[in-house]
Amino acid sequence: MMITRIYQPDEYEAAAKEIQLGELIAFPTETVYGLGADATNEQAAKRVYLAKGRPSDNPLIVTVSSQAMMERFTGPVDARAQRLIDHFWPGSLTLIFNVAPGKLSKTVTGGLTTAAFRCPANETTRKMIAAADTPIVGPSANTSGKPSPTTAQHVYHDMNGRIAGIIDDGPTKVGVESTILDLSKDQPTVLRPGAVTPEEIESILGGPVLADNHHVGKTEIPKAPGMKYKHYAPAAQVLIVAADQWPEALRWADQQEKTVGIMASASIGKQTTHPFFDLGADVTTASHRLFAGLRYFDSDEPVDYILAPAYPEEGLGMAYMNRLRKAAGNQFFNA
Ligand code: TXA
Ligand code: MG
Repeated sequence: MMITRIYQPDEYEAAAKEIQLGELIAFPTETVYGLGADATNEQAAKRVYLAKGRPSDNPLIVTVSSQAMMERFTGPVDARAQRLIDHFWPGSLTLIFNVAPGKLSKTVTGGLTTAAFRCPANETTRKMIAAADTPIVGPSANTSGKPSPTTAQHVYHDMNGRIAGIIDDGPTKVGVESTILDLSKDQPTVLRPGAVTPEEIESILGGPVLADNHHVGKTEIPKAPGMKYKHYAPAAQVLIVAADQWPEALRWADQQEKTVGIMASASIGKQTTHPFFDLGADVTTASHRLFAGLRYFDSDEPVDYILAPAYPEEGLGMAYMNRLRKAAGNQFFNA
């Protein structure tokens, strides 16, 4: 079995060398940890699918340290894209562009004529990519079907022995994955909600942005990210609890013979003796800790049911509810 080394942020050059050698390195971003490999090295990119146990027709995000690095593949971007890049990069907005045929391998694009580019806010990771002088593919560094990792320990849990190293830069700040915006067509379309909201994008573009909730069938190449495969599936059944339903939900929990874990604010935690994971008091902390909570009830304190709070589907709440609905298979607690 391969030894998975833990790199400190100041060891980014050693990690960059491994990338150049075709090895896999997990890296921190402000959203979740990613699994990096040289995006121009077909064999290395293929090994990412293997390490994640992910079907190989799902395209990979290409993570760059700068706009200039991206333009090696896209050519110069138009004014619309430039405004978004000036405002949101580095940061949590992934942009999909057309790429010239042959510039990126089929392993990276999943056979599409477009590619998704992201320049993360984490400075260590940008320095590592710049030192490697090559973009890296960057899917979330979880095994397929597990919640995305928000700490280096989550990555280690899933990837120990499968990858050369992990750069540990502490817990991620945002906690849910980037917003994905398709700029390959006339009408900009959000394919995955994230911390950057459609309203913010509209205010920069001065025009409408579509949101694509279209489901992808079995034979179609996944256009809408993560639609084809079930993501964020904890072993327990998650039930989403509307704010005014907590008293009923806590009573229901007490009546169950099966075990019930509760993810919620500390004020709700005080009202119950069930296994508890603190999601904090607002949607920002809840987004930050959601995946850690799902992992907690998967391995540290296994339960049969998980109760988790609904938040209004606006702003960051759209991204939070998108991930929670997937984890719950869309099941709400009903008194
Ligand atoms: O925050 C993030 O975006 C994290 C961090 C690590 O950067 N990365 C991430 O990657 O979430 P991943 O691979 O787990 O999710 C990327 C999604 C996939 O579901 C994939 O289907 C979609 O982006 N995607 C990639 N290229 C695409 C393309 N050309 N067209 C449509 N969707 C694409
Ligand atoms: Mg993922």
